Amino acid sequence: MKIIVTGGAGFIGGNFVHYMVNKYPEDMIINLDLLTYAGNLETLKPVENAPNYKFVKGDIADRAFIFKLFEEEKPDVVINFAAESHVDRSITDPESFVRTNVMGTTTLLDACRTYGIKRYHQVSTDEVYGDLPLDRPDLFFTEETPLHTSSPYSSSKASADLFVLAYHRTYGLPVTVSRCSNNYGPYHFPEKLIPLIISRALNDEELPVYGKGENVRDWLYVTDHCKAIDLVVRKGKVGEVYNIGGHNERTNLEVVKTILKALNKPESLIKFVTDRPGHDRRYAIDPTKIETELGWKPEYTFDTGIVKTIEWYLNNKEWWEHIISGEYTKYFENMYGERL
Ligand code: NAD
Ligand code: TYD
Repeated sequence: MKIIVTGGAGFIGGNFVHYMVNKYPEDMIINLDLLTYAGNLETLKPVENAPNYKFVKGDIADRAFIFKLFEEEKPDVVINFAAESHVDRSITDPESFVRTNVMGTTTLLDACRTYGIKRYHQVSTDEVYGDLPLDRPDLFFTEETPLHTSSPYSSSKASADLFVLAYHRTYGLPVTVSRCSNNYGPYHFPEKLIPLIISRALNDEELPVYGKGENVRDWLYVTDHCKAIDLVVRKGKVGEVYNIGGHNERTNLEVVKTILKALNKPESLIKFVTDRPGHDRRYAIDPTKIETELGWKPEYTFDTGIVKTIEWYLNNKEWWEHIISGEYTKYFENMYGERL
């Protein structure tokens, strides 16, 4: 099979490319990524010379480019990770989220419709369901929970989901959608909470915690997410949505304190800062459907996954120090400059 993975130079897409290239040597994995600030080819170093891997630089919202690529490659499967993914950035620049997350998705869907496809999979998020109150631990997001978004980011992702499902209903396109909770693990860009706290704590810098740190996120180790997507693409029912999560809820303050303890750093580094506007209170996934229908089970709990993650950041300082210093943006030039 020929599989186009979009956004494969980002955090989850990068981990997914590693997983797929190693697990399915008979499949061809084409990583299509625009290399925005969040795309980092240094993440792909472990697979860049694999015979079943290829990188293509391009924009999922560039219709002419996407149609040409599909014409040349005739992919069997498209898995769309490419997105603007940071809520805080969506608050200052909503339009780039509409362009990539909505128009990029419809462009890919149109190409799939034109050239034919065995499966289009949309990597979505639990944030499309909005948030849950902090005082109702009995409530969880199921696939039936109404979409009720809070941020420009989640609104763009919900919109994309609706287009994906509409292309199934209207044109019969074979699609699936997965909605996962917050991920963490290797190659996570240090603007997001967990890698930000690890990298700043290691440098003895102040750790910004929004509001009182009482917001709750449901954390999933990234390879558990990758395995779930692989399963949905291969065994999931066309036209269906699958929630992905492992019941690992923590308040932000608990997360930060766990990291500080593991690194032997003082809690005095914590600095409570002005809250994010519209800050979602709690996310919590009910994963019953993917567990019962597809037999998925996460391998890691938060306690085992966070230890593995911290170890990775300690052993791969060069990767995140390059990001913080801006060095990583030169990788494409060094690697591809003479070949283009
Ligand atoms: P990321 O920001 O780390 O990576 C996004 C990647 O997409 C980058 O490599 C970037 O260069 C690429 N990209 C951006 N715009 C593009 C465009 N127009 N054309 C081609 N490539 C483009 O994001 P992530 O955290 O890895 O998230 C991946 C997907 O998973 C997103 O769709 C996100 O909504 C979803 N998701 C993320 C989480 C999470 O916790 N990070 C949880 C659930 C779902
Ligand atoms: P983030 O990693 O941005 O993911 P999301 O907003 O998509 O869940 O943030 C996770 C939680 O951590 C969220 O409640 C906001 C909070 N947060 C902070 O308290 N400080 C920070 O510096 C960041 C980036 C996030």
